[in-house]
Amino acid sequence: MKGRFITFEGSDGAGKTTQINQLHARLKEAGVACYLTREPGGTAIAERIRDLVLLNNDPRTAITELLLIFAARAEHTSEVILPSLKSGQWVLCDRYTDASYAYQGGGSGVPEELIAKVESVATGGLKPDLTILLDIETEEGALRLDGRASSPDRFEAEAADFKRRVREAYLKRQANEPNRIHRINALGTVESIGGRIFELVKPLLAESYA
Ligand code: TYD
Repeated sequence: MKGRFITFEGSDGAGKTTQINQLHARLKEAGVACYLTREPGGTAIAERIRDLVLLNNDPRTAITELLLIFAARAEHTSEVILPSLKSGQWVLCDRYTDASYAYQGGGSGVPEELIAKVESVATGGLKPDLTILLDIETEEGALRLDGRASSPDRFEAEAADFKRRVREAYLKRQANEPNRIHRINALGTVESIGGRIFELVKPLLAESYA
């Protein structure tokens, strides 16, 4: 069986975590060996970089932040994602490189060409087979975050303008790569969104068994 790489993206508050957990459970039920992971993070050192980026308030430039996130991604890609895919496991990842184009690119203003250069060093340009973009209006996403018990991390605390640019960058990437990135409106019920996601995954399942 061929390993497949599926990523979940979206603005904060879109409900990615619930949906990725649900897909993980469904794939396991279907007998697929499936590894669930996240970014920034996914290895010991990458999780330490995650804390540094998301929970630490020391000032940093946008480029420094980009490089830290891609350092974590380089480690995660070569030590976890690629070996898992090679062994035939599927990998479900909560955010990947699209998030850097959206947050560091759209949000913080790092030029796309520069992100592309760092991407090619860190990941060799590895792309997911399928990316689910859970899309939510910026105001609605902010309302959902307000309802959470935990305090906001580095990006959740950003202003509405930053979040609007993140969303626009995601939508632009989706428009440029409609075969890989599928936009799903995050306003439906957990069940209906989960059902739509599974419909998108089914063709990959069929191919893998072929
Ligand atoms: P998120 O995936 O939303 O996790 P949680 O559900 O625990 O809050 O948090 C990760 C944050 O990191 C999110 O605000 C987006 C940001 N991020 C980037 O800015 N660039 C990236 O490349 C990645 C992977 C994440």
